[in-house]
Amino acid sequence: MAQTFESLKKYPETSEEMVQKAIQQAAEIVKGNLGDFTESFQSPNTENGFYWPTENVEWTTGFWTGVVWLAYELTKDEAFRKTGEIHVESFLNRIEKKIDVNYHDMGFLYSLSCVAAYKLCGSEKGKKAAIMAADHLLTRYREKGEFIQAWGNVGDPKDYRLIIDCLLNLPLLYWATEVTGNSEYADKACRHIHTAMQCVLREDHSTYHTYYIDPDTGKPSYGVTHQGNRNGSAWARGQAWGVYGVALSYRYQQKPEYIQMFRDVTDYFIEHLPEDLIPYWDFDFDTGSTEPRDSSSSAIVICGIYEMLPHLEKEEAEKYRMAADKMLCALIEKCAVKDKKESNGLLLHGTYARSSEENTCKNRGVDECNTWGDYFYLEALRRRQGKWNPYW
Ligand code: GLY
Repeated sequence: MAQTFESLKKYPETSEEMVQKAIQQAAEIVKGNLGDFTESFQSPNTENGFYWPTENVEWTTGFWTGVVWLAYELTKDEAFRKTGEIHVESFLNRIEKKIDVNYHDMGFLYSLSCVAAYKLCGSEKGKKAAIMAADHLLTRYREKGEFIQAWGNVGDPKDYRLIIDCLLNLPLLYWATEVTGNSEYADKACRHIHTAMQCVLREDHSTYHTYYIDPDTGKPSYGVTHQGNRNGSAWARGQAWGVYGVALSYRYQQKPEYIQMFRDVTDYFIEHLPEDLIPYWDFDFDTGSTEPRDSSSSAIVICGIYEMLPHLEKEEAEKYRMAADKMLCALIEKCAVKDKKESNGLLLHGTYARSSEENTCKNRGVDECNTWGDYFYLEALRRRQGKWNPYW
């Protein structure tokens, strides 16, 4: 265990000025990117510090659109809104034509692009696309086991599993219930989080990345990793998806048991932070390791903590606020891009995937920016500024 809430007290905190400067630097980079990434999207990660243009494919394009909407909120610059609206057209086309959507990541894609457009600008196209995406996500719900199947063809026994990342896709379903009045979306989201947390949360409060369900009985079978170092280790980003995912479900459902889950997964994350507060990509590694970091996991956890603060008693809220603030300060000081010649991203030192003996990944986006790291970093800065109505 590398840290405690007590040991965090020695680290510097953010100031209003530091946060304003960080927002300004980020907004400038985002503005500079609009030329390359309005008719196109950003690649999931940078290579040698730079994103390149892609089609609207993969699970990651919503993050760039989310960054654009955040920049619009922060600056009121109409150029961001125009880009956001062009992206909404693209996302509507994508879900209508079912382009590269045979997986669970509909919330990552549609909450940050289309729900955001609906909430910020009343976009009816955004609302339509997001409800279609929620309907599509429901088709992955499996009655046998009561969970949303992450990948592969639905029902296929070899892909009959859930993953912790999916908790971030549930707000799309809760939102769909709110706007349509159809409780099926939220009911299935609640069933999924119940199954998922029973499976992935270990006794020491670390988490499995993925968990297989027996397709015949619906009973949990066994956990394996996909992107972590070992089946039994805690992949930093998986743990982070747990933190924010539980907090977001609490926001919609207010189930008291989610508060304890939040404490469990968040404390594990915080206690395993290394000396400089920038997490390694897996908690098998600690201070002094030469393994790469995953700054994005820290940004995700900060947002999860901010989301949960209003629901905690004063003393406990202060403890978590302090932790989030120290982590944000470390990101600003050690990972934020400060010169656009260095990178066209916002947050350095992320890791998309790192190969290991027990996982099935190839190295991808190692020690680079990634679009979700950028998004959650900017969301964290926005949340640090004051009350925010989430796109989630
Ligand atoms: N949801 C996939 C990832 O976090 O890499």
